[in-house]
Amino acid sequence: MPSTSVVLVSDSHLSPRTPEATANWEVLMEHVATTNPAAVIHTGDIALDGASDDDDLRFARTQLDRSVVPMLALPGNHDLGDNPCETNAGASLITSDRVTSYREIIGDDRWAHQLGEWRLIGCNAQLFGSDLEEEAEQWSWLERELDFAGQDTHPTAFFMHKPLMHSDPHPSEHDVAIRYVRQQPRERLLGLLETAGVSVVVSGHVHQHRRVDLRGLDTVWAPTSWATIPPSMQDTVGERWVGGLELELHDDGRLDVVEIRPDNLGQHSIGESIPNPYGAH
Ligand SMILES: [Fe+2]
Ligand SMILES: [Fe+2]
Repeated sequence: MPSTSVVLVSDSHLSPRTPEATANWEVLMEHVATTNPAAVIHTGDIALDGASDDDDLRFARTQLDRSVVPMLALPGNHDLGDNPCETNAGASLITSDRVTSYREIIGDDRWAHQLGEWRLIGCNAQLFGSDLEEEAEQWSWLERELDFAGQDTHPTAFFMHKPLMHSDPHPSEHDVAIRYVRQQPRERLLGLLETAGVSVVVSGHVHQHRRVDLRGLDTVWAPTSWATIPPSMQDTVGERWVGGLELELHDDGRLDVVEIRPDNLGQHSIGESIPNPYGAH
């Protein structure tokens, strides 16, 4: 059965201040040049601190441009700020100015592409619950794109920085608020994904790899290309390792997920093998 291959990377946290992140990025871009996938998809936290430092976004853009195949990037909380929630406020929040900077320097914060037989749709997960004008625009766009995707038989994969949920049923919102899409937008998005017949949801953000069926959705978490977060700072839900994934999109709708872990990739752990540039992630 024919198929299309894409490389999935995430949480590269690129900056002149994280040379180990750039070294790993070079290894993965060499892998891309060797294997020549149809595209690379980046599920966010491209830059170390693009939300507060446009120079980090500019540096990240030059690194994205090193890919020899089309690069489909999506923003993470460290690229344009985070959703508001009980444990997150003030300087770290997403703003319209930050969205504008991201769009000017990196590019679109949402996209829809036809790749072979597959429909790929990616969105800006940090807008959910923000009440920004850009959130309302994105909901309208999602409704249109997912309605369109539901009208044909093409398999559809959905991409965003944050996972939809931890498990089914999802634990208390307060415990896990910062890591997942919040309940209200999650339920709205789940309804749209179901109507569209979306089979796969792919995300980053947790710096752990996982593949699990949740509410009938094939749920894939991308590993980080930079560094994992140690158990002392974060619950273990999936697997902690540094690398990328190859997504083999079969024309009949099946998906194979293959780990990309070249030997010369640094298996870094934040605050352990490398300094923690954030204080708290
Ligand atoms: Fe990250
Ligand atoms: Fe993140």
